[in-house]
This record gives sequence, C-alpha cells and structure tokens, in this order.
Amino acid sequence: MKLTLLSSIILLPFTLALAKGGNSKLLINPPAQPSLPSISEAESAANAVGLNLTNIQGDILIGMKKKKELFFFFGIVDALAFKSNLKAHILPLVTPIPPLLPGGTSPTTALNIAFSQNGFDALNITDNLGDAPFANGQFVGASGLGDPGTVNWIPPFTGNKIHGVILLASDTIDNINNTLIDLKSGLGQSITEIYSLQGAARPPPEEGHEHFGFLDGISNPAVQGFRDPSPGQAVVSPGEILVEDSSRPPWAQDGSFLVFRQLEQLVPEFNKFLADNPIRAPALTTQQGSDLLGARMVGRWKSGAPTFLSPLVDDPVLGNDTSRNNDFTYAAPGQNQSDPTDQSHTPFSAHIRKTRPRADLGLPEKPKHHIVRGGIPYGPEQSEDEIRSNTTKTERGLAFVCYQSSIAAGFQFLQQTWANNVNFSKTDTGFDPIIGANRGAPRVVNGLDPTLPSRRFTIMTDFIVSRGGEYFFSPSLSALATTFSA
Ligand code: HEM
Ligand SMILES: *[C@@H]1O[C@H](CO)[C@@H](O)[C@H](O)[C@H]1NC(C)=O
Ligand SMILES: *[C@@H]1O[C@H](CO)[C@@H](O)[C@H](O)[C@H]1NC(C)=O
Ligand SMILES: *[C@@H]1O[C@H](CO)[C@@H](O)[C@H](O)[C@H]1NC(C)=O
Ligand SMILES: *[C@@H]1O[C@H](CO)[C@@H](O)[C@H](O)[C@H]1NC(C)=O
Ligand SMILES: *[C@@H]1O[C@H](CO)[C@@H](O)[C@H](O)[C@H]1NC(C)=O
Ligand SMILES: *[C@@H]1O[C@H](CO)[C@@H](O)[C@H](O)[C@H]1NC(C)=O
Ligand SMILES: *[C@@H]1O[C@H](CO)[C@@H](O)[C@H](O)[C@H]1NC(C)=O
Repeated sequence: MKLTLLSSIILLPFTLALAKGGNSKLLINPPAQPSLPSISEAESAANAVGLNLTNIQGDILIGMKKKKELFFFFGIVDALAFKSNLKAHILPLVTPIPPLLPGGTSPTTALNIAFSQNGFDALNITDNLGDAPFANGQFVGASGLGDPGTVNWIPPFTGNKIHGVILLASDTIDNINNTLIDLKSGLGQSITEIYSLQGAARPPPEEGHEHFGFLDGISNPAVQGFRDPSPGQAVVSPGEILVEDSSRPPWAQDGSFLVFRQLEQLVPEFNKFLADNPIRAPALTTQQGSDLLGARMVGRWKSGAPTFLSPLVDDPVLGNDTSRNNDFTYAAPGQNQSDPTDQSHTPFSAHIRKTRPRADLGLPEKPKHHIVRGGIPYGPEQSEDEIRSNTTKTERGLAFVCYQSSIAAGFQFLQQTWANNVNFSKTDTGFDPIIGANRGAPRVVNGLDPTLPSRRFTIMTDFIVSRGGEYFFSPSLSALATTFSA
C-alpha cells in the first residue's frame, strides 16, 4: 500500500504532463475509437444532468481502452473482516471516472471492484436489485445464453462460487503485480483467491484489435452527462447504463451491472474458414474474397471501416476517421427506412447489425438494449505452429466485459434475443456468425455472400467458445463506503 501511494506521488508531475491533451497513460488511444472527453468536458456535461462522476467506478464508462488489465476473482470467507478491510485498504484505491480522463491525475494502477449475488449473500446484503439474471448468477443461465451447458466452462466459474472481482488496470504488468501485493495484504485472510485472468491490448500494430484482427471498441453509446456523441454514436440516458430508477435501493444509484465472460477465440480455425470460403466476385482476388467474408461476418473491416460504407474492400482511412466510421444507419441513402431485403452492403446477420440494428427497427433508434463494452483481449499472439496447423494450441480470446443498468435488457437480451435468434431482425437471417451460439450445434448463417444473398452457410465450428463467467454489480463509491463497509 505504502509503496503504491508513494510512487503515485512521485509520478504525479509526469502523469500530468503526459495526460495533457491525451489519454491517461493506462489507456490506449487508437484513432478509430472515439477519444474520451476531457475532464472539464465530462464534468460540465455531468453537471448539466446532475451526475456525480466522482461517485462512479471508472471502468464503467471508459470502454475498451485498457493497456493491461488483471481480473482477480475472490470469495469472501469473513464478512465482517472483509467490510472493515474494504473500508480501510481498498476504498482509498478505487478509481472513479475523472482521474482516467484526459487532464485527470491518473493513478499508477486503476482499481475497481464488483460483487456477485453470492457475494451479496456472503455480506448479508439482502436488498433486491431487481435483476433476475444477476440474482440467479451466470452459471444457472448458461444454456439460455446458447452455451452447450457448462462443459467448456473452467472450474472457477462453475457453481456460482465467486463472490467478487477486482479489476486492476495499468500500463505494465509490473505495476499491476505491485498493486496486487498491496491488495492481498489489505484483504488478508478475509478473502480467498479463486482465479485470475490477465488481459492485455495486443502488441502494435494490432493494438485495439481483437484476436480475429478487427478493430474493436468503436461503437459504444454516448452516455448523456458524460460525453457528446461522435457522428452515428447512439445517445443513451445515464439510466440505461447506470442504475438510476427509484425502484432499486437508493444505495444502488450510480452503480452498474458488470457482465464478465471469458470468451475463447479459435483464431486459426476462424482464418481457415475464411480461407476455405472466399466470396467469388470477378473484381476480387481469392484473398480479397476471404477478407470480404470476414468483414461481412463482423459488419466492419479489420481497420474498423464499416462494410455499409465500404462494401467491397477495406478503407483504412475511413476506418481511422471517427467522424465517419460510425455514421450510418443501414437505411438506403435518401430513405428514412431500411430496405427490408438489401444485404448488399451489410448482412442482417453481421455481428454489429445483430447487436445494434440501427434503422432496421425504425428511426429514431430506440435506446433500450445498449451496453458499454469494456473488455480486453487475453492470451498470446498465434504461434507459427498454430498458424501452420490451423489449430489453436494455447487459449486466447476476449475477456468480455459490459456494463448496463439491466442485464436482462442488456447483455442477456443481445445474446439470446438477437444474436442467437435466426429470425432476427428479419425472418431466416440465421445466427450472428461471430457470437451467435446454438448450444454447440452447427449454426446456419444467411446473407454473407453479396453475389448470392440466398446462399446459406452452415458453420460447423464455434469460433468463440464460452469458458464461463459471472454477473456482478459495480457499486458507487458512496455505496462502497457504507453498505459494503464496516
Ligand atoms: C470474442 C467475442 C467478441 C468479439 C471478437 C467481438 C468483436 C466485435 C467487433 C470487431 C466489433 C466492431 C467494433 C465496434 O463497432 O466497436 C464489435 C461490436 C459490438 N459487439 Fe462484439 N464481439 C464479441 C462479443 C460480443 C458480445 C458477447 C456482445 C454482446 C452480447 C457483443 C456486442 C457488441 C456490440 C453491441 C457492438 C457494437 C455494435 C454497434 O454499435 O454497431 N460483442 N464486436
Ligand atoms: C460525489 O461523490 C463523491 C464520492 O462518493 C462524494 O465524496 C462527493 O461528496 C459527491 N459530490 C456531491 C456533490 O454529491
Ligand atoms: C443480516 O442482517 C440482518 C438485518 O440487517 C440482521 O438481522 C442479521 O442478524 C444479519 N445476519 C448476519 C448473519 O449477519
Ligand atoms: C506478475 O505476477 C504473476 C503471478 O504472480 C507472474 O506470473 C508474472 O510473471 C508477474 N509478471 C511480472 C511482469 O512481474
Ligand atoms: C490508422 O491508425 C493506425 C494506428 O495509429 C496507423 O497505424 C495507421 O497507419 C492509420 N492508417 C491510416 C490509413 O491512416
Ligand atoms: C424518420 O421519420 C420519423 C417519423 O416520421 C421521424 O420521427 C424521424 O425524425 C426521421 N428520422 C430521420 C433521421 O430523418
Ligand atoms: C490449413 O488450411 C489451409 C486452408 O484450408 C490449407 O490450405 C492448409 O493445407 C491447411 N494446413 C494444414 C496443415 O492442414
Ligand atoms: C423462424 O421463422 C420461420 C418462419 O416463420 C419459422 O418456420 C421458424 O420456426 C422460426 N425459427 C425459430 C427458431 O423460431
């Protein structure tokens, strides 16, 4: 503890200099992702709607920008000791939003903490948060999400034994390890360590890209009271991401539900599927045909450029341009309504069209099922051997994190009701080829081939394998200081 405090004091002047005009040094800043608002912009937006950004845990609104992040999952063995350790040793390290913004005084290592329903039970916190998926835990809901039961789940996530998770973010794993030492000594015997997962932004030039190679974290909603939207960004009221309604306990205000999923990605297998199924068009080489298939599965090219605005080949200049790369609705130009049959630019099944259908459900967009994605890749780059053999040998994937005020309306709805639904948003569109899950059975996906829209793909491999996860609640700093402290 002392060491961390000391080093942040020594580093302060440097941090301030580095942060000027740019992100906290803990964060990446790829040009394709909208940059964060400055601390003064965010604070004036927050004042206008009466939001207290200093009361909100920082990760909730920061997005997919962490350089390195450790997820530390624990069980509580002594509730009273835990509550007093939390107050004395952990609460002072919890990072709210402002220090992470440009102009803020970034800590060396940012720390956030969240609790599962079983953690609430262990702490004797009996108030009902009014969210059924949270109350039941993710283990119980696995099949409903399309997982083939929990056969692929790693043991720590089975049986709802995790009580909480601590998120540590920094620019180096050394810093994270140092904070972890402080953390463990601060919590002492009041907890038991269950599992840790180390995430990291991929090395340049892949920084900001997920393991299949696509730039991620472009389209998160703009939360009112935090930022102005970049063109095409969905605008949502704070209450869609933060708990704000009066039906929940007052202490839950300014908190948010954190969904965690360890999603393994079979990268060589995914690439083999693209290599084996190139889209054949006279203007395209075989490689370009494979690239086009991958882009249409996502709805964006690897650079982040949306296929809706660049339908045949990648356009990295467009991909890097946040004034244009999210500025589309799927409605045909000049029309205020989507063409119900046109998949020439983006299949209805594409990952980003399934998870945010934009004009397909009518304009103006109904903001009800938005989430803020804050995950990070984990695992190593592919080895030569894996590339050559088309076979995953070491686990890698996405430590998926998202925040919302209702898991039922957010993550669970996107996964179950949209991505896994072969009749969404039109009849017979098939599964989302990226995250759509059919309990391990083959997945039919339609609309991927622009030269033959009726062509049906039957994908035999789940390129994403759920290794399990848990549902958490990330309380406000004031709730941590009261309800969770003793
Ligand atoms: C390993 C798993 C996943 C991968 C590789 C992945 C990849 C991507 C990529 C490349 C994008 C485009 C970048 C962007 O628009 O920000 C994206 C967007 C998105 N993803 Fe995922 N994703 C994964 C899991 C999920 C899950 C589990 C959900 C929710 C159930 C989800 C929901 C979304 C949403 C809402 C968007 C933004 C759509 C938009 O606003 O246009 N993703 N994802
Ligand atoms: C905002 O939240 C912080 C942290 O809980 C608290 O210390 C501060 O008093 C709050 N500010 C206002 C104006 O309520
Ligand atoms: C839990 O809290 C309730 C009310 O706050 C109290 O009556 C009860 O004794 C507590 N139980 C334990 C095990 O601490
Ligand atoms: C951090 O700690 C982990 C677990 O103790 C260890 O495996 C890893 O080598 C450490 N990393 C660094 C950079 O010290
Ligand atoms: C886009 O941004 C990336 C990351 O900074 C950079 O490497 C790349 O050269 C840029 N591409 C274009 C076309 O501007
Ligand atoms: C589309 O039409 C609806 C209904 O007439 C209107 O409310 C909405 O503002 C229009 N949207 C755009 C982008 O023009
Ligand atoms: C890997 O897949 C590619 C594309 O199908 C194929 O050409 C190659 O022979 C495969 N390699 C092995 C070792 O099977
Ligand atoms: C999808 O819709 C078709 C046509 O209405 C129907 O036959 C089919 O059963 C539906 N599929 C599912 C899984 O609901």
